[in-house]
Amino acid sequence: MRKIIIGLICCLCFGNCFAEESDSVIYHIVTTVCENSANSATVNYHCSNPSSYVLYTKASDKAFRKAVKVEPESALWSTKGIENTAKETTFFTKERYVCSAHLSGLKPNSEYIFKIVSQGTESKVFSFATSGKRGKWNFVAFTDFQHKGNRETLPLIQNMKELAHPALVICSGDMVDVAGKEDGWFWLLDNDVFRDFVYAASPGDHEYWADDTGRKYPQYNSPHTFNHLFKFPGNGAPMSPNSTYWFLYNNVLFIALDMNNSNVATGPRFEDQVKWFEKTVEILKGRYQYIVVYEHKSIYGSSKIDSVVAARLRPQWAPVFKKCGVDLVLSGHDHIFSRTEQIDGTFYLDMGSSGDKRRAIDSSVAEGDGIHAKVLDLKNQGLCCACNVEVSKRGMKVTVYNQRKEAVDSFEISPKRKYSRKTENRGEQVFHPTTFVGAGAGINF
Ligand SMILES: [Fe+2]
Ligand SMILES: [Fe+2]
Repeated sequence: MRKIIIGLICCLCFGNCFAEESDSVIYHIVTTVCENSANSATVNYHCSNPSSYVLYTKASDKAFRKAVKVEPESALWSTKGIENTAKETTFFTKERYVCSAHLSGLKPNSEYIFKIVSQGTESKVFSFATSGKRGKWNFVAFTDFQHKGNRETLPLIQNMKELAHPALVICSGDMVDVAGKEDGWFWLLDNDVFRDFVYAASPGDHEYWADDTGRKYPQYNSPHTFNHLFKFPGNGAPMSPNSTYWFLYNNVLFIALDMNNSNVATGPRFEDQVKWFEKTVEILKGRYQYIVVYEHKSIYGSSKIDSVVAARLRPQWAPVFKKCGVDLVLSGHDHIFSRTEQIDGTFYLDMGSSGDKRRAIDSSVAEGDGIHAKVLDLKNQGLCCACNVEVSKRGMKVTVYNQRKEAVDSFEISPKRKYSRKTENRGEQVFHPTTFVGAGAGINF
C-alpha cells in the first residue's frame, strides 16, 4: 500500500523522480554554485531514504559509463515541533533527509550530467556547465517568483532559457510566498523548467515566512527552509551563514546578501554583513573585474511600499557599495520595476517581479527624478521581468525582458578594473580567511 501511495504522490507532485516501484522518493533537486564555479558544483536534494548518492559524468557520456559516485552530506530534518510551523499545512512537517553532494575536481567550461540514485529509485538526468568560458559569457537573473501556481513564472523562466541559454541563474529572493509551506517549493523546484543550470539565490523576506495563518506574519528567525533547500558556499557573514556568501564566476565576484524578514532593517546581523562584505572584497582583490551583488530589498526602489528600506537600508549599504566599487545590484521586493542612473559607480536594478504579483508605480519612483533612469508600471502593463547580463572584459550589457521575450530596458556598464588572467578564475582554488566552517554552516542548523 505504501508503495502505491508514494507512486501516486510521485506522479502528482514529484516531477523530477520516478518512484512507482520503490520506497524512496527524491525531490527538490537543485544544482547550486560553489566558491569557484569552474571546478565544482553542489547537488542539493531531499530524499525519503537515508541512503542515496549522486552519479555524475561528462555530458557526452550519456550512458554514464565513466560516472563518478559522490555520497552526500545528509541530515534528517523536518519542521515538526518548530515554532510557527506546528500546523500540518506546513508540509515540511514530513521527515526527510536533506542531502547535498559536493562535486569537485570538475573541468572548467565543461558540461556535465548527473542523476541521483536511492534504493533502486533513479532521478531524471540533470545537466549543468562549469564556468571558465573565455571571452563573452552571460547569466540570467530573476526576482520574486513568489505566488505558487501563477501563470507567469514558469513560462518566463522557459523563455529566458530559450533566449539566453544561461549556465548560471540568479534570483534575489521571494521565490515562494510562504517559505514554510512546501507546496510552493514543489511548484518552483520540481518541474521541468527549473533545471539544467547552476542556481544562486539570496533570501527574501518571504523566505522568512513560516505559517501565514491570520496574516500575522509569524516568522522564522532565519531563512530556515531556504537553508534546508540550498547549500551555498560556506564563506558567508558569521551571523548569516548560507544566506550570505560569495562565489567567483569567470571575471565576476558575486555576493549574496540577506536583507532579513519583513520587519527588520537594522541590527547586528546587518553590521556583521557590512564588515564581512568589505573584508571579502578586499581579500579577493585581483581575482575579479566586476562585482555583482544580489539581495532582496531595493534600496533605491519605492519608499512607499516598504519605507524602512530607503530609510534604513539605503544609508547603511549605499556607502559600502560605493567604497567597494560594486558595479551592479540586483534586487526586487517592492514589485515595481525601476533602474537607476549610475549612482556613485553603481547601477541598481530593481527587477520588480518575475511572477504575477505586481504593483503600480508610485510617486517615489519616477523617470527623470535624478535617480531613476527607467521605470515600468508592471501592474497596469501586465508585465513581469527577468534580465540577461552579457559579460566581457570590455563591459557588462544588461538587457531586461518581459514575459513575451521583448526587451524593455537595456544599459551598459564599463569596467572599473583591469582584466587579467587571474580574473578569469578557471579553476584555481580559492580559500577565504573568513570562510565559515563547522557547526552552524550550511544545512546543519
Ligand atoms: Fe516579493
Ligand atoms: Fe519581499
